[in-house]
Amino acid sequence: MTTPGPHGAGSLEGRCFLSVLDFEPADLEHSLTLSATLKRDRPLGKEAPTSAALQGTYVALLFEKPSLRTRSTFEIAIRELGGNFIVPSADVALGKRESLADVGRCLERWVAGAVVRTYEQSRLTDLALATTSFRVINALSNEEHPCQALADCLTLKERWGDPRGRTVAFVGDGNNVATSFAQAAVMLGIHVRVASPDGCDLPPGIDGDIARVARYGAELTRFRDPVAAVRGADAVYTDVWTSMGREAEVAERRRLFSPYQVNDALMAHAGTDACFLHCLPAHRGEEVTDSVLDSPASAVFDQAENRLHTQKALLVMLYED
Ligand code: CP
Repeated sequence: MTTPGPHGAGSLEGRCFLSVLDFEPADLEHSLTLSATLKRDRPLGKEAPTSAALQGTYVALLFEKPSLRTRSTFEIAIRELGGNFIVPSADVALGKRESLADVGRCLERWVAGAVVRTYEQSRLTDLALATTSFRVINALSNEEHPCQALADCLTLKERWGDPRGRTVAFVGDGNNVATSFAQAAVMLGIHVRVASPDGCDLPPGIDGDIARVARYGAELTRFRDPVAAVRGADAVYTDVWTSMGREAEVAERRRLFSPYQVNDALMAHAGTDACFLHCLPAHRGEEVTDSVLDSPASAVFDQAENRLHTQKALLVMLYED
């Protein structure tokens, strides 16, 4: 993995996964190959070659926001790799009683790493930088959701085989999911179009990184018009219009995003055999209709399943000596 990562000075030494950008494209390719192997081997149970990969290893799960998929799949992944986890309560674990740095320095004496869902990305960086050997994984921050992107990429590779030259249209908020997906997809040679209302674009600061990590000529393009973005695309991706932590804005955002609903009419502009992606949870009838979410084109439960396999691969990669 990258040394240094985007977090400065080489101090994380490739031990953390705070961002898709902590991977080089070759790391992403390797993680997806390993994920497919782990998925194939899962029925072997204790006979799987990785069933003791985390033997004797404790991992802390620190979640400041709700989670079904991420938390469940990390718990299962750690267990299936032979490891153990602890779940300190959020009120004592994330800097409310003492600094994040001191939380990290204590945890590091007991456990090998932490899976953290929190607010600002800087909180993850602070935790990682305060420690020396601690493996920190971003389980979602306000800015990025890199573990989701791993599952998205595996799902697309399963559907398409070689994804180079394909196009995915992300329709909706240029949020953490869109950011991490765009960073990962361009590494695989996938063109990414993002259609968002004014004021809800992908952060402009990601363009330099996208240009640096893109392979095989993949490009990121921003749109206002969802139809233009979806036209001829091989996949259409959306997420909720109001991300966790922005609930006070829900009425205004419903108004703003209503032209961006993924429905049958919008999907009709996509390419033949285009698939539909959503990280879940979905707000049915808002960003996506039942008819799309429950259609044969929908890959959303494959994405959910693949959270497990891709996070197992990530844990193996981070904890291997
Ligand atoms: N997609 C996702 O991160 O789901 P959870 O919020 O349930 O973990």
